[in-house]
Amino acid sequence: MHDPIPTVTLPSGISVPALGQGTWNMGEKASSAKEEIASLKAGLDLGMTLIDTAEMYGEGGAEEIVGKAIEGRRDEVFLVSKVYPHNASSKGTIQACERSLKRMKTDRIDLYLLHWRGEYPLAETVAAFESLRAAGKIGAWGVSNFDLDDMEELLAIPNGANVAANQVLYNLGRRGIEYDLLPWCQERKIPIMAYSPIEQGRLAHHPDLIHIAKTYQATPAQVALAFLLERDGVIAIPKTSNAQRVAENREAVSLDITDEDWATLDAAFPPPPRKKPLEML
Ligand SMILES: NC(=O)c1ccc[n+]([C@@H]2O[C@H](COP(=O)([O-])OP(=O)(O)OC[C@H]3O[C@@H](n4cnc5c(N)ncnc54)[C@H](OP(=O)(O)O)[C@@H]3O)[C@@H](O)[C@H]2O)c1
Repeated sequence: MHDPIPTVTLPSGISVPALGQGTWNMGEKASSAKEEIASLKAGLDLGMTLIDTAEMYGEGGAEEIVGKAIEGRRDEVFLVSKVYPHNASSKGTIQACERSLKRMKTDRIDLYLLHWRGEYPLAETVAAFESLRAAGKIGAWGVSNFDLDDMEELLAIPNGANVAANQVLYNLGRRGIEYDLLPWCQERKIPIMAYSPIEQGRLAHHPDLIHIAKTYQATPAQVALAFLLERDGVIAIPKTSNAQRVAENREAVSLDITDEDWATLDAAFPPPPRKKPLEML
C-alpha cells in the first residue's frame, strides 16, 4: 500500500496531485519512446496523474509521447501544456493549442501555460486563453517563469486574475521564491508548479542530501521532493524516463523528515535573506 499523494486545489476547485510528472527531453529520440511512454504510464498507475509538457519539448515530440501514454485513460489525467511566447498572439495561441491537442490526441488541455514572457502583450495572450476556455479546449490557463512584478502586472489586466498557476524553477538549491513570490501566490491561492525539482538530476549527487537520505534509508532525490511536498500550494513535477525511478520518486510522499533534519537542510541550503530575481533553466 502506498501513502496517498497530497493534493493541491486550483482556483477552480479542482484538486490535482502535488507530485506529477515532467516530460522535458522526451520525444527527442525514437529509440527512447518505448521507455518514455512506459515510465509515464507507470507514474499514472501510481497516482502521479498530472503530466506537464509543452509544444517546445522535442518540438512536439514530447506531446506525442504524452498522447501515447494517456491513450485510453484520458479521464485519469490532468494535462498541462505550454505555448511558446513567440506563438502567444491572439491567433497564434489558438493555433498552437489546436496543434498540441492533435499531437496529444485529445480534445482538451486541463491547464495551458504561457511558457515565459515574450513579445506579445499579456492582455492579448490572456484574451486568447479566455476564448480557448470558453470553447472548452482548455480547462484553465496559467503562466510560467513569472516573477512577482510580472504577476502583479498580470493581475491588473482584464481577466488576469483568472490565472490558475505559475510554473517556476524551485528546488532545495533554488529557494529565491520563498522571499516573496511563493508567499504572495500562497496568499492568493495561486499554486506554484515547481520545475526541475531535482535540479535536473544534480541534487541526486549532493553530499548533504546523500547524508540525510541515508538516515531514512531513502534516496537524495526523495529528500529533494519531500522538501517541496512539505509546502502548501506547491506541485512538484520531476521528470524521469525510467519506471524504477518513477516508483522511487512516488515514494517521496512517505518520507517523514524531522524538524532537526529540516534545520540541517536549511543550513546547507539557506532560504533567501533578500529579494533575488527569479532564475530560469
Ligand atoms: N516551465 C519551464 O520553463 C520549465 C523548465 C524546466 C522544466 N520544466 C518542467 O519540469 C519538469 C522537471 O524538470 P527537469 O526535467 O528540468 O528536471 P528534474 O525533474 O529536476 O530532473 C530530471 C532529471 O533527473 C533525473 N532523475 C529523475 N528522477 C531521478 C532520481 N530519482 N534519481 C536520480 N536522477 C533522477 C532524470 O533522468 P532519467 O530520465 O534518466 O531518470 C532527468 O535527467 C520538466 O520535465 C518539464 O516538464 C519546465
